[in-house]
Amino acid sequence: MTGRLQNKTVLITGGTQGIGFGFAEAMISEGARVCVTGLTVEEADRAVLKLGHRSLGYQMDLRQQSEIEDTVAKAWKELGTIDILINNAGVIELLPIVEITRKSFDTQFAINVAGTLFTMQAVAKFMISEHRKLDNPGKIINMASQAGRRGEGLAGVYCASKAAVISLTQSAALDLIKYNINVNAIAPGVVNTPMWDTVDAQFGKYEGLAIGQKKEQVAHQVPIGRFGDPKDMAGMAIFLASSESNYILAQTFGVDGGNWMA
Ligand SMILES: NC(=O)c1ccc[n+]([C@@H]2O[C@H](COP(=O)([O-])OP(=O)(O)OC[C@H]3O[C@@H](n4cnc5c(N)ncnc54)[C@H](O)[C@@H]3O)[C@@H](O)[C@H]2O)c1
Repeated sequence: MTGRLQNKTVLITGGTQGIGFGFAEAMISEGARVCVTGLTVEEADRAVLKLGHRSLGYQMDLRQQSEIEDTVAKAWKELGTIDILINNAGVIELLPIVEITRKSFDTQFAINVAGTLFTMQAVAKFMISEHRKLDNPGKIINMASQAGRRGEGLAGVYCASKAAVISLTQSAALDLIKYNINVNAIAPGVVNTPMWDTVDAQFGKYEGLAIGQKKEQVAHQVPIGRFGDPKDMAGMAIFLASSESNYILAQTFGVDGGNWMA
């Protein structure tokens, strides 16, 4: 098999479904070996069954610091190294500002922000120990969102968490480039995944809409005229993981059908 990620190794958090699973499929087809993590063992096992022999999967809860460190160490050992990390796992809960609870805030920040930071840290420590070279840098890709570019009435905490991911991407990129580690982020628009099924139901509750109605409304508002598919996200991830992007760092790239103009 030949491809743009031939013999590369990739760790994808939340790679058991949705966008992360799409990344895993695309990277395997580009020649990589991939480790996906999910919240449950069942999810991880199901994903590996579908992805085949170039994959492995682990359960990892990003709210647990020890699970992050153990899982990164296990993946490193099994894969031999980690060339590429995709900090993809994330959660959302829609609530009006006056109804936001401390628990909802803590959960979204624990997974979307602290989870991203500490997985990045755990992988970066291993990458630093390997003395990566300018022409073979480590690659870290964080999943931000168009929601990190501007606030949204019902998604205050999620938007703030994704703005934090954009900021952390910039800081980590500036700090880690001296070790030849490139950090960038992807900001999807709206993508058809299990997460958006949840979002659709949550909007329905607050806006009095039937299941599927919000999705339909939102799809019409995207300049390209449709929802994104996980496959639409893969090209940017492969580019950022490949040597073609070695001179690029600290950036957040919209892959959103024209929703946000940088
Ligand atoms: N779907 C969209 O429209 C959209 C838009 C912009 C950004 N994003 C971002 O893209 C990423 C992937 O989104 P998706 O739509 O594929 O999500 P999804 O809900 O379909 O999948 C989320 C993944 O995260 C994992 N996960 C959930 N809680 C976890 C925890 N506590 N610890 C570890 N893993 C956990 C799940 O196991 C799953 O594999 C997220 O960061 C999301 O915020 C999604």
